[in-house]
Amino acid sequence: MSTLPVVFETDTVTRAPVESLFGRDLVSIADYTSAELRTILHRAHALKREQRARRAHRLLEGRTLAMIFEKPSLRTRCTFETGMTQLGGHAIDLAQQHMQMGTRESVPDVAHNLERWVDVIMARVFSHQTVIELAANSKVPVINGLSDFCHPCQIMADLQTIEEHRGRLTSLKIAYVGDGNNVTNSLIFAAGVLGLDLHVGAPQGYQPTGPVLERARAMALHTDGEIVVHDDPVAAVDGADVVYTDSWVSMGQEAESAERMKVFPPYQVNAALLAHARADAIVMHCLPAHRGLEITDEVMDGPHSVVFDQSENRLHTQKAILTLLLGV
Ligand code: CP
Ligand code: NVA
Repeated sequence: MSTLPVVFETDTVTRAPVESLFGRDLVSIADYTSAELRTILHRAHALKREQRARRAHRLLEGRTLAMIFEKPSLRTRCTFETGMTQLGGHAIDLAQQHMQMGTRESVPDVAHNLERWVDVIMARVFSHQTVIELAANSKVPVINGLSDFCHPCQIMADLQTIEEHRGRLTSLKIAYVGDGNNVTNSLIFAAGVLGLDLHVGAPQGYQPTGPVLERARAMALHTDGEIVVHDDPVAAVDGADVVYTDSWVSMGQEAESAERMKVFPPYQVNAALLAHARADAIVMHCLPAHRGLEITDEVMDGPHSVVFDQSENRLHTQKAILTLLLGV
């Protein structure tokens, strides 16, 4: 096993306390403490510097990641596989059409096989229950690469991106506009754990659920976070430092597309909506973007957009998560 280069001990970007995450799963951000999330971010910043400087950081030599995809992906697939390569390890893409998890073989049996061969599992699934079941039955760490409920890896990359552009996460108004979906849920949990000021602008019927808000607000009581839900997108964006949006139709919701297209147009992130944010606001999108729907070309390609920084940071935060869960 490689030892950590000195850069991790002397890093001054976040001054995070180093928490051991060895052997943990990452199913939801809500399962982690503030110190643990800061540990991941600290490592992500350090690994980004290592990668940018082209310094070798083969911390996972000989280790293997199994990647399960029930849904399509560009970023998650590419960044996990590239990340393992850069860390000196290897990733296997288990195509769902061949593995047929849940039909050809049960979820627990898939976990019991994989744990005998690989060091860590990443799963992108339809039902959040599937990732919970994988984690419950696997002796090796399981990372949620998106479920219908949450997308923790995405939000970790987004937090890294906000820190890079604003130098901090707190004392910022963060607005999320659009569908109250898996990405929103992870953002809400991050707000609770880390004490962020989050304003969600979403239409009735598509707002975050009561249990998600209650859990995050209970955490926010201890962290000075604030989580506000608005019907009005302008109220959410007013004076915001960060304006975030995502698809109006998530993977698996295609049958609701026509209905959703009637509801969401007032929530489009366009120049008129962005005019209500701070003049130096950053615009975020987890991608893939549906240009002309939830975000206009003008905004996505404009000077406020940091969407490709978010995309790049998937690589660095996931390398941080992989190394920390594997105890290096
Ligand atoms: N943002 C994100 O998870 O992208 P992919 O669906 O392409 O993996
Ligand atoms: N909410 C989107 C995110 C895609 C990365 C979806 O689940 O399809």
